[in-house]
Amino acid sequence: MKKAISAILMFSCIAFASAAAKDIVISTPGTALVLNAEEGMPLKFCYYGDFTTLSGMKQLRAAGDAIDKNAYPSFGTGNLALPALAVTHNDGNITTDLIVTGVSSTEEAGSVLTVISTKDKVYPLYVDMCYRAYKDTDVIEMWTVIRHTEKKPVVMDRFDSGCLYFRRGDVWVSHLDGEWAAETSIVTEPLKAGMLTVRSYDGARNGQMSHGEIMVSLDGKPRENEGRAVGAALCWSGDYELRVNTDDNRTHSLYAGICAEPVGYVLDPHMDFETPHLAVSYSNEGIGGVSRNFHRYARGTRMHNGSACRDILLNSWEGVYFNINQEGMDGMMSDIASMGGELFVMDDGWFGRKYPRNDDTSSLGDWVVDMRKLPDGIDGLLASARKYGIKFGIWLEPEAISPASELFEKHPDWALKATKRDYNYGRGGTQLLLDLTNPAVQDCIVNMVDTLLTSYPEIAYIKWDANGAVRNFGSPYLKADKQGNMFVDYHRGLESVMKRIRSKYPGIVIQACGGGGGRINYGVMPYFDEYWVSDNTDAYQRLFIQWGTSYFYPSNSLGQHVSAEKNHQTGRVIPLKFRFDVAMTGRLGMEIQPKDMSAEDKDFARKAIRDYKSIRPVVQLGNQYRLISPYEGKNVASMMYVTDDKSRAVFFAYKMEHYMFQQVPRFMAAGLDAGRNYRIRELTVPEGEKPSGLDGAVISGAILMNTGFEVPLDREYASRVYELTAE
Ligand code: DGJ
Repeated sequence: MKKAISAILMFSCIAFASAAAKDIVISTPGTALVLNAEEGMPLKFCYYGDFTTLSGMKQLRAAGDAIDKNAYPSFGTGNLALPALAVTHNDGNITTDLIVTGVSSTEEAGSVLTVISTKDKVYPLYVDMCYRAYKDTDVIEMWTVIRHTEKKPVVMDRFDSGCLYFRRGDVWVSHLDGEWAAETSIVTEPLKAGMLTVRSYDGARNGQMSHGEIMVSLDGKPRENEGRAVGAALCWSGDYELRVNTDDNRTHSLYAGICAEPVGYVLDPHMDFETPHLAVSYSNEGIGGVSRNFHRYARGTRMHNGSACRDILLNSWEGVYFNINQEGMDGMMSDIASMGGELFVMDDGWFGRKYPRNDDTSSLGDWVVDMRKLPDGIDGLLASARKYGIKFGIWLEPEAISPASELFEKHPDWALKATKRDYNYGRGGTQLLLDLTNPAVQDCIVNMVDTLLTSYPEIAYIKWDANGAVRNFGSPYLKADKQGNMFVDYHRGLESVMKRIRSKYPGIVIQACGGGGGRINYGVMPYFDEYWVSDNTDAYQRLFIQWGTSYFYPSNSLGQHVSAEKNHQTGRVIPLKFRFDVAMTGRLGMEIQPKDMSAEDKDFARKAIRDYKSIRPVVQLGNQYRLISPYEGKNVASMMYVTDDKSRAVFFAYKMEHYMFQQVPRFMAAGLDAGRNYRIRELTVPEGEKPSGLDGAVISGAILMNTGFEVPLDREYASRVYELTAE
């Protein structure tokens, strides 16, 4: 990446020069977004790519590289651009025509905020287009703030966060599709004439459908470390639509925003509506470069406590499911502590008095300990954790309510429901969602978490689950004319709840779980420390799922657990080493009944956890290089992590299916210092097995990256982990 002069200096240049040229350069260290903001005219998008300046932009124009398209097209201007904004004004007019009225810039800590104010030519409707450029990461956030002073509410049918344009050509898109237990499946396709749409309409857990992130490769098929690429992530936990339109113009246009279908959002006069931020990143180091930018942005800026390493934990779910009791929890804590783990998380099944939670049909909302299962309550569990020297965490599903609950008996009107309609039930044939638009419901959730954490300050971790989609399309709280606002206001309510919890409890680790990976999104990121990646813990299938999440999410945010030998979801039998080696590329954990493990397996787990601790900062905080994708069909997958100073790295390789005489490819490292020598140490070698010949070798970064090296992977589910230390 080319380095820019300091962003502050840059900006003063921009502010001075823009008065004449009207071009505004919004830049990060290696990238620039150029807009043209001439007063009285629509705001134009001109360029997004490698770093440039105002004079560089002149040359780009001369070379024919300026796009010059409406940066935020609205419906009804006559130029037939697909709208990013469509509003029905209170007199019934369905058109909007925005022109620039001013530009301002503000220095922030670590970023520069540029706001371009626009106004409808006729109506008192105002849209501020906001761009925040980071000084230490090649990421720009864009969003809009919409308000009006019309006499009555207006209805916003579409209100995207922003648009980007790419020169039409051999442009490919990768997006993450999926559903429960098959999350983040990568779909890669070339852009052809027409519209590619990525959409989630789950209502509550958008990651259960297509993800709100998209990767665009500008120079042909996606390559990991070469070629120009752009990534975009919509920071929103609700429904959205990302559209890439290819019409008869010479551009592909990307639009991203909340999806308001089937009804629009009703906006009262004088109210600011801020659209979710759309984070975009450009790299000339391929899609891997874009991923690394997003990882840096997530860790450094967006994610709660993003720069910290996470603990190694045992979660009780696949070990005991709903069968929670003090003795069982104590046994699991003893076992994980003896294997070197640092945290135990008691999952579902611990709560409910009048309605005990023995399966998924009841009790949600009654967050009181079931004393029949846990006679010493949470105190007893904390005493066990203290005895074994580990931390304790607990499962909650705060947004859900069961009809068989004391909460529902008291507040039946707190569940989402359409008037005059029966309930549609979710999980267990009973589950409903609380109406988070209602401030009383928000207070109830905040108070529940607050009471738990003030009563038991030793609780170190919450697994915040969300197992339900929105299936009841009405809010008993919202007024009749605002029922459609529920889709947005639910998530505003969730955000407000999380802000209140975080302001009092910044130190507690909170995992976002959405019935598997349904809550993996950039919207909830500021309030959560990590995500549960998937309820599918089959290590083979996790190679694919984790490959997909790594496109946008950093490794310290990804909960990856070692589960039973015979996998509970797929029945596949996989050796323990492979299961560990796959889980070790993210936040390592276990999801197993340790008492069913053999002494030999426990010994191996102890060794693997010890090894993981020695490389944890490299894996969790290092720069990720994906080397061979499981999607490539080579029956091999490989990736590595490298520290910023390139002094340490960890390399992972996996044999997937094994065919006799099928050649294992030569591995080429990436991200190392070509001029330094690296000593190789093999990790997670089972007792009695010999490390491979690479163990102890000293090889230059140049050879490792340019000539490559052989990794013995001689049977199905063979795997290797090498630590590389610069000498
Ligand atoms: C769904 C989660 O993804 C699982 O890990 C587990 O917590 C169950 N919910 C519990 O009901």
